[in-house]
Amino acid sequence: MRAAFTPGRIGRQELRNRIVMAPMTRSRAHGPDLAPGEMTATYYAQRASAGLIITEGIQPSAVGQGYPDTPGLHSDAQVAGWRRVTDAVHAEGGVIYAQLMHTGRIGHPSNYRTPQQPVGPSAVRARGQIFTHEGPRDFVVPRELSAPEIEQTVRDFADAARNAVAAGFDGVELHGANGYLIHQFLSGNANRRTDGWGGSPRNRARLALEVTAAVTEAIGGDRTAMRLSPANPLNDIEEEDLTETYHHLVEELNGFGLSYLHLLETGAPELTPELRRAWKGVMVLNPATPGSRTGPEHLSLVDEGATDLLSFGRLFISNPDLPERLATGADLVEPDMSRAYGGDGRGYTDYPALAGGAAPSRTASA
Ligand SMILES: Cc1cc2nc3c(=O)[nH]c(=O)nc-3n(C[C@H](O)[C@H](O)[C@H](O)COP(=O)(O)O)c2cc1C
Repeated sequence: MRAAFTPGRIGRQELRNRIVMAPMTRSRAHGPDLAPGEMTATYYAQRASAGLIITEGIQPSAVGQGYPDTPGLHSDAQVAGWRRVTDAVHAEGGVIYAQLMHTGRIGHPSNYRTPQQPVGPSAVRARGQIFTHEGPRDFVVPRELSAPEIEQTVRDFADAARNAVAAGFDGVELHGANGYLIHQFLSGNANRRTDGWGGSPRNRARLALEVTAAVTEAIGGDRTAMRLSPANPLNDIEEEDLTETYHHLVEELNGFGLSYLHLLETGAPELTPELRRAWKGVMVLNPATPGSRTGPEHLSLVDEGATDLLSFGRLFISNPDLPERLATGADLVEPDMSRAYGGDGRGYTDYPALAGGAAPSRTASA
């Protein structure tokens, strides 16, 4: 049997296979509380045959929201909504981590439910546009976080991690990738600070490590993970000192006993083997390269020991029983990306499992 279909282990959890559902924002928390609804519980329960589900990015605070209708983990209503999700996944024997995503400067005032201005390491606007309810809009100049606000942001991550555990999650993944707040601090073009959080690779890595320290203290290293994407240019990131920054970060992260490191190798695939060697814990790899996506051809990476676990994004949108399809060589359905963000159950909970397959097909209400 191929290694990807054998049991795995992260932190406190045994995993039934080494196939991971990668975090994917779906913008379907339409209610006033930005809490996930029953439809979201159905969506994740349908995908519980993954060894591990990592949720869509979840904001740890109101100001951490970037996109329309993304769910949070900073209010009682949100904890209650996520409790329904984790119960539904656990009822199917699944394991689920919450991805904590503070989008930093990647946001827009019109996407918040309460008046807010996006914040960042420095008042430097990202080039590009963001989805809003009114259509695409230019990114705005973020407000530079003060030192006390950075300390509050770190506490917000720890509080959200405690909320995740209260909501029944098996752990949290910290989003240090893809040009959001933690990655903005790592990157010299977004982080122009001259204080202790900017200027050198070590200073730029400080926020990532402070958040990790606070979250592991709150819920334990064996329930905490980190996602990184060295050199990923998404969201106008330009990183210098790549090798020094990521070696320093990974070596420091080794000290926290994290449940796994999730590497998205799109920007600098040449760093993957080096970081694999430097990292002492479990690795999850998302081997996406520009213009292609993770597919069956990447299963060999687990056989070869290039990674312990392999994460798939887009194919999990349209194949709720992806592990079974990969194991049997069954046909794979292509996702309708026009329904990726926002909307109802179409393109979300209506992709069927194989006939006679194990994935539940519960009917969604709203
Ligand atoms: C619709 C969509 C939403 C995504 N949202 C997130 C997110 O919230 N957090 C994150 O870390 N990555 C996010 N990603 C990136 C995926 O986790 C993954 O890295 C990417 O899709 C490449 O993997 P794939 O080729 O298997 O799809 C998203 C990707 C897609 C397609």
